[in-house]
Amino acid sequence: MGKSNRILILFAHPALEKSRVNRYLIEAVKGLDLVTVHDLYETYPDFYIDVKFEQELLLAHDTIVFHHPFYWYSSPAILKEWQDLVLEYGFAYGHEGTALQGKKFLTAITTGGGEQAYCREGYNHFAIRELLLPFEQTARLCGMEYLPPFVVHGTHKLQEQHQIAKHAEDYRTVIIALRNNTVHWAHLTECKRLNEDLNQLINTEVSQNA
Ligand SMILES: Cc1cc2nc3c(=O)[nH]c(=O)nc-3n(C[C@H](O)[C@H](O)[C@H](O)COP(=O)(O)O)c2cc1C
Repeated sequence: MGKSNRILILFAHPALEKSRVNRYLIEAVKGLDLVTVHDLYETYPDFYIDVKFEQELLLAHDTIVFHHPFYWYSSPAILKEWQDLVLEYGFAYGHEGTALQGKKFLTAITTGGGEQAYCREGYNHFAIRELLLPFEQTARLCGMEYLPPFVVHGTHKLQEQHQIAKHAEDYRTVIIALRNNTVHWAHLTECKRLNEDLNQLINTEVSQNA
């Protein structure tokens, strides 16, 4: 087990009271040591984002997570507003904009569409990794290491409570593994999504420690 990482989860769901899936995912990672859950819609119902506060939060963490339902092949609006305001020139990129360099970046999303819908022949025509390219390139431009995304597909068909609970447990396992640095980093390049095969990716014996 390597050195611990402080994780910042920027959570964006505009109607959490109607959520079936994300409400369980986010509950599963609340209260963990060194993990900050920051609910953007709750903090900024009027969209007036406190840029300095957000930048200080970023500086105080090693891994940044964008957690949200997939909306129109992207994120809910507040996360775009957050990027436009917080990732300032001179802070996140450009001359002397080195604040985020060396941090890790993860997207954690849920999609209504099933996994098979996200390919050339499928309903959504593009793979999730392709659709997430603006996030990947944003992370790269800011000098962050982009991790394969954590993706829960086919949310509308997740009827059984235990299926949703399993995804929530997997999310917690991934966040703890990132925090405890128990991910097999070498396997990451081959992996389409972080939660594809957790046993291969994470040293689970030492990852359970919350
Ligand atoms: C405005 C809006 C846009 C959506 N766009 C997409 C989309 O582009 N692709 C997709 O697979 N699902 C899309 N969905 C479905 C949501 O991703 C899905 O309902 C959500 O992930 C379920 O999580 P929840 O139960 O926490 O709300 C969209 C839903 C809404 C309300």
